[in-house]
Amino acid sequence: MSDIVKILTAFSERFNQDLEKCFPPLSGVENRAVEAMKYSVMNGGKRLRPYLLCECASLFGVSYETAFPAAASLEMLHSYSLIHDDLPAMDNDDLRRGKPTCHKQFDEATAILAGDGLLTYAFEYLANALEIRPEIRLTLVQMLSSAAGAFGGMVSGQTLDLYAAPTESQKEDEAIISRLEEMKTGRLLRYACEAGAVLGKAPLDMRHTIVVYSRKIGQAFQIADDILDREGDPKLVGKTLRKDDSQHKFTFVTHYGLEIARQKAKQLIDEAVAEISIFGEHAENLQNLARYIIERNH
Ligand code: IPE
Ligand code: IPE
Ligand code: MG
Ligand code: MG
Ligand code: MG
Repeated sequence: MSDIVKILTAFSERFNQDLEKCFPPLSGVENRAVEAMKYSVMNGGKRLRPYLLCECASLFGVSYETAFPAAASLEMLHSYSLIHDDLPAMDNDDLRRGKPTCHKQFDEATAILAGDGLLTYAFEYLANALEIRPEIRLTLVQMLSSAAGAFGGMVSGQTLDLYAAPTESQKEDEAIISRLEEMKTGRLLRYACEAGAVLGKAPLDMRHTIVVYSRKIGQAFQIADDILDREGDPKLVGKTLRKDDSQHKFTFVTHYGLEIARQKAKQLIDEAVAEISIFGEHAENLQNLARYIIERNH
């Protein structure tokens, strides 16, 4: 196991224990959505976004305990996006993180409600986080809502993912793909990193460096996801693969092919690693994580 995988595994163990405490055991019909929320959020997951948030915050001396509520709310929101992404009306997937998707384990209505519940709870949990000073909390709420929303955020990216069609122009297609990937995946990964900088009241130039790093790893992350769809091992990835072609998805791989996609992802990661090097040895984990993003097998 590489060092960064060990670090990420140790982080996930601690994070999962704390995240579970956000979901008290409740039963009865009225809590069916809560049960489904917990099922989906505690259902594995690499925890990359919370890790990035905590690691970027730690560059500026912020403890895990202070960063946790922001990291937890981001993972809740990410899990909501996956539940809805898997619904029959969207990607129609049966498998997520190696287990039945939320609508398969429960039912479609419950999955919609669980997504709604996680999206809402993410903001409730963040807004109530007394560990974070009120003005910073407000900034994070503004940033997270914009990153997740329908005005250039994740929802806009998901909309393009479902409705974008190839044009007559190669150049236009390329612009659509890069905008699509930047919004559907990039915005939340960017938020993860930038929120860490905001929590640490980072000077503007350093915050800018973090943003440049995050945008590059965000794009590389989605390209890696698209490559895994084409040639990953379904048992390791834990999702049904080989679907982007049949669902006519507009991805870097479906458009450019595997080789160019791989080169592009590698180039982005090299640039991200160089960008973050201004933090010296403190950036080592973030550099290794960037490399892991394109080497991962799930
Ligand atoms: C999957 O994200 C959705 C994309 C943005 C491609 P992850 O690959 O981070 O999913 P989990 O959280 O580890 O399951
Ligand atoms: C989903 O992208 C990104 C989200 C905002 C959830 P994909 O549809 O490619 O993600 P997977 O492959 O189902 O995880
Ligand atoms: Mg999708
Ligand atoms: Mg999908
Ligand atoms: Mg995918």
